[in-house]
Amino acid sequence: MENFFSTRVLKPSEQNIALAANELKKGEVVAIPTETVYGLAANALNESAVKKIFNAKGRPSDNPLICHIADVNDVFTLAKNVPKSAVLLAQEFWPGPLTMVLQSSGAVCPLVSAGLKTVGLRMPSHEVALKIIKAAGVPLAAPSANTSGSVSPTKAQDVFCDMQGKIKYIVDAGACMHGLESTVISLADENEAPVLLRPGTITKEQIEIVLKAELQVSTAITSELESGQKAQSPGMKYTHYAPNAKLILIDASTEKYIAYVNEIAKENKGVAALCFDGEQKALNCKAISYGAVENAKEQAQNLFSSLRKLDELGVQTAYAHCPNSEGIGLAVYNRILRAAAFRVVQL
Ligand code: TXA
Ligand code: MG
Repeated sequence: MENFFSTRVLKPSEQNIALAANELKKGEVVAIPTETVYGLAANALNESAVKKIFNAKGRPSDNPLICHIADVNDVFTLAKNVPKSAVLLAQEFWPGPLTMVLQSSGAVCPLVSAGLKTVGLRMPSHEVALKIIKAAGVPLAAPSANTSGSVSPTKAQDVFCDMQGKIKYIVDAGACMHGLESTVISLADENEAPVLLRPGTITKEQIEIVLKAELQVSTAITSELESGQKAQSPGMKYTHYAPNAKLILIDASTEKYIAYVNEIAKENKGVAALCFDGEQKALNCKAISYGAVENAKEQAQNLFSSLRKLDELGVQTAYAHCPNSEGIGLAVYNRILRAAAFRVVQL
């Protein structure tokens, strides 16, 4: 796509929130902060506005968008046959980083649902996001504000790098609190148990406590779709979070990880490590830590910004120390596995 706009980064003043809401009402796209990652927002009821999101991101048109609301009651206008479990989950986790896929009422335009009969709904907790949705007066479709396939943005500067010239405004409210996208669950099939489609900082275990039942976990969360296998969520089919460097995940103890990377670094100066705190000093190559080994919440906060830093180093190959996949760790593992295009070395 050609670059048409000079992109402005706005502080989240009341005046700029009104300006952003006005742009959204006019059918334009605006990048907005949320507590997970920055989103590229447009009026979910306006087909031509939503189309601009797909164009700016270069997103495949069969990948649906999450629709953001500021009032729980909007669930009942945007979705139909809403199960009791969805109401319980909303009471517990909204506003917050949980997306529920429900049967669409047909109110959002077909492009938001990418032709499916369902719609993904989320009420974000970020104060600025809520103010913008309320001021716009419409539900906002918003995928992560990155170029399709690249690393999700956790700072306004990341959005600027990807969207410069493609959108007019980015509302900058600093770094996102969670750093990883929302947990996505499907409650759309009345005859099936709820399914976890994408892990996030609201964990499977937390959801199970509310549901008082086991949550099915899509196999696509921890393994590659087989050729011909149908994706439960279209987003599972696509390359994600890919840094420019070839990332390889090393599933090993600290000792083995360091020995393996140092052996490669002896011969090859163009490599880097994506490691845990304290491992840098033993590594004989450029190294970026994405958090403490036992702190999944911190790893979630840092992962995407660390992947962007790796690219700034300009290395060709990077070796990432594999995280523990318990609790929030499942979300970290899911993203890093995709960033590594499922290349894993087990030692
Ligand atoms: O935290 C987040 O969820 C962020 C912020 C901006 O809210 N948004 C985000 O959107 O991550 P996106 O488009 O990057 O990821 C949405 C994911 C995709 O994997 C998509 O396939 C899935 O949710 N999804 C959306 N609607 C769906 C639906 N109706 N059925 C199945 N999957 C759906
Ligand atoms: Mg995304």
